[in-house]
Amino acid sequence: MLLGASSSSAIFCPKNSITLQTSHKTTSVRHSMEGDQNFGFLSKKPYDPPSWALHLNPLPSHVFSLAHTPTPIHRWNLPNLPKDVELWIKRDDLTGMQLSGNKVRKLEFLLAEAVAQGADCIITIGGIQSNHCRATAVAARYLNLDCHLILRTSQALMEKDPGLVGNLLVERLVGANVELVSKEEYSRIGSVALTELLKERLIKEGRRPYVIPVGGSNSLGTWAYIEAVREIEEQLEQGKMKFDDIVVACGSGGTTAGLSLGSTLSNLKAKIHSYAVCDNPSYFYDNVQDHLDGLHAGVNSRDIVNIQDAKGLGYAMSTPEELTLLKEIAAATGVVLDPVYSGKAVFQMVKDITENPGKWEKRKILFIHTGGLLGLYDKAEQMVQTMGNWRQMDIGESVPRTEGIGKMF
Ligand SMILES: Cc1ncc(COP(=O)(O)O)c(C=O)c1O
Repeated sequence: MLLGASSSSAIFCPKNSITLQTSHKTTSVRHSMEGDQNFGFLSKKPYDPPSWALHLNPLPSHVFSLAHTPTPIHRWNLPNLPKDVELWIKRDDLTGMQLSGNKVRKLEFLLAEAVAQGADCIITIGGIQSNHCRATAVAARYLNLDCHLILRTSQALMEKDPGLVGNLLVERLVGANVELVSKEEYSRIGSVALTELLKERLIKEGRRPYVIPVGGSNSLGTWAYIEAVREIEEQLEQGKMKFDDIVVACGSGGTTAGLSLGSTLSNLKAKIHSYAVCDNPSYFYDNVQDHLDGLHAGVNSRDIVNIQDAKGLGYAMSTPEELTLLKEIAAATGVVLDPVYSGKAVFQMVKDITENPGKWEKRKILFIHTGGLLGLYDKAEQMVQTMGNWRQMDIGESVPRTEGIGKMF
C-alpha cells in the first residue's frame, strides 16, 4: 500500500515496507520517509536551522516537507489606502490545497516529532471550523496516521450530526474521528485535560497517540515561522528590498511567536503587528512568552511584537463591516481573505492606517495571509447581502427557440 493510503494503524519505519497486525486490522504499509522517493514532498529530512537561531534550545531534529514553499509575495493594492503606504502580501494561503494556510508549516515540525516518537495516531483539538484540525487531519492521512479531533461546538448542536460545512467536510472526507464537546465543557475542563482524556482512552485501546495542542502552537510549532522568516529573508535578497512592518492574525500565538522572534534574530528586523482575533492582547503577550521561553530565547514578548485587539464581536463572529471589506478586497484584488483570522486582521490594519496615517506614512508593509478559506463557507448565508452581482439572463423573444433542442448533452 502506498503512502497516504488508508489504514487504521501504522508504524513508521524509514525506507521500510512492513506488515503489521493491530487490534484493528492487518495492514501493509510502505512509507517513503527519507530522501527523494516523493521528489521531496512528504519526505522527512534532518532540520538545519538558520545560523541566527542556532542558540535556541531545543532545536528540532527533523522536519517533514508538507507545505508548498516558498509562498509568493506580491504587491497588494487595497482600495482607499493612502498613496504613501506600500502594501505587500505573502500568500501563505497557497501553502497547499486541503493543507492550506499557516498550520501546515507547524505540522512539518510537529508530525516529524510524532513519527520520531513512534506515534500511530494524532489527537488535536479546536473549534468546530478549526483550520488547524482540518490541516492536521489531512497531513495525518498523507502520513498514514489516524487522526482524532475534539471539536468545540454549541450545546444546542451537540447531539446532531455536525454536518459537512467547510473544514468539517474535508476532515470527514479524509476519515478523521470527530468527537464533539460543548463550549461550556471546553471552558470548564480545558483543552489540555480534554486531549489527555482522549489520549488515555486510546492508550488503553493499544494505540500510540501524539497530542498536538490548540492551533499547533507550542515551542516546537514556533519553528514554523522562524523558518518562514528565513524564507522571507531569502525572497527579499532576490528582490533587494526591505519591509518595515509585518502584519499577521493571532489565534493561538505560535505564528506570532515565530515571526517576532525570527524578525528580531535575523536581518529582517521588521516590526511585527499581530492582531488577536480571540482572548485579548495581554493574554497573548503571556502566551507568546511561554512559546519563547520554551526555546530559551531570552527575549521579552513585549519588546518584539505589537499585539492589538481585532476580536470585534467575538471569535469567529463577523460584523457586516468586516464581511463588506472582505468582499470589497476580493472584488478589487482577487485575494480572498478568511472571515475568522486574516479578514479581521486586515479590517483592523486598514482601520489603524486610516485613523493614524502618520504612523504608517512611507512604510513598506508585508501582510501574511495565513489561509483559512474554508471558514468562508460557514459565513455564506451572512455574506449573501454583500454580493448582489447576479441576474437572470435576458433572452429576447426574437431569439429562435427550436435550434439546439435535444442537444443539451
Ligand atoms: C487561517 C488562520 N490564520 C491565522 C491563525 C492564527 O495563527 P496562530 O494560531 O499561530 O496564532 C489561525 C489559527 O489559529 C488560522 O487558522
